[in-house]
Amino acid sequence: MSFNLAGKVALVTGANRGIGEGFVQTLLKGGARKIYAAARDIKSLEAIVALNPSVVQAVQLDVTRADQIISLAAQIPELDILVNNAGIIDSALSSALDATEFARKEMEVNLFGPMQLTSLLIAKLKQSKGSAIINLSSIAAISNFPSIGTYSISKAAMHSYSEGLRADLANDGVAVVCVYPGPTDTRMAAGMEMDKPAAVSVSQKAFLALSNDQFEVFPDDFAKQMYATFLEQPQKLAKVFSDMG
Ligand SMILES: NC(=O)c1ccc[n+]([C@@H]2O[C@H](COP(=O)([O-])OP(=O)(O)OC[C@H]3O[C@@H](n4cnc5c(N)ncnc54)[C@H](OP(=O)(O)O)[C@@H]3O)[C@@H](O)[C@H]2O)c1
Repeated sequence: MSFNLAGKVALVTGANRGIGEGFVQTLLKGGARKIYAAARDIKSLEAIVALNPSVVQAVQLDVTRADQIISLAAQIPELDILVNNAGIIDSALSSALDATEFARKEMEVNLFGPMQLTSLLIAKLKQSKGSAIINLSSIAAISNFPSIGTYSISKAAMHSYSEGLRADLANDGVAVVCVYPGPTDTRMAAGMEMDKPAAVSVSQKAFLALSNDQFEVFPDDFAKQMYATFLEQPQKLAKVFSDMG
């Protein structure tokens, strides 16, 4: 294990439910010393703080609010793990007349907010002895999923951003992990009728991968299968996603 959660200080965005809540649970189990659990509505974090009030601190963050990003980054004196988890699907087909409006909203939450937050925290992550940035992308980043076309665009941007960060920080002791889940059992995927892994499994797989020096994480069987299809032939995955509607 080259990456140990014990004693670490972490910040998780969108920590009040779903995959973000799972990250808080996994960090607690691993012995994190301090977890900043961020959400737009601080009251929605009560149950998460109650898991361990001496470790988990509720903080307010809407990732589309530059003022809140700046104020939160200034409040955090040291940091080992940043989890850019907050995200939305508010999608249009790529060909829709109003596609840019949907894409702009999704890019604000799924890319620009995380980018600004990360930029402001990089200096603190560099000071840590062994730190990590964990970015939530999606299997829909690897090939465009037409029915959620603009969401796919934003998650592909997160993939590319993660690659850029990883290269930039390679000599600074900051690992950059990008996670590409398939449909996972949270509110976001509530409309998808299929077997879905539990939200907490995403964080468990992400930290396991990190401790094995793997930085691109396909945490579930669906994501693994789809990525294998892509590696076999990129256009084959495009066809599979297009046929899924
Ligand atoms: N579930 C899936 O199938 C799946 C698959 C692939 C990737 N992902 C990615 O995994 C991440 C977590 O998603 P999830 O499945 O846990 O979805 P979720 O249950 O819908 O949770 C989304 C989280 O993001 C927060 N959020 C939304 N807009 C925000 C904003 N402007 N500022 C700060 N927080 C904001 C939500 O907070 P509020 O409670 O305030 O709305 C919530 O905590 C997302 O990036 C998503 O794209 C999910």
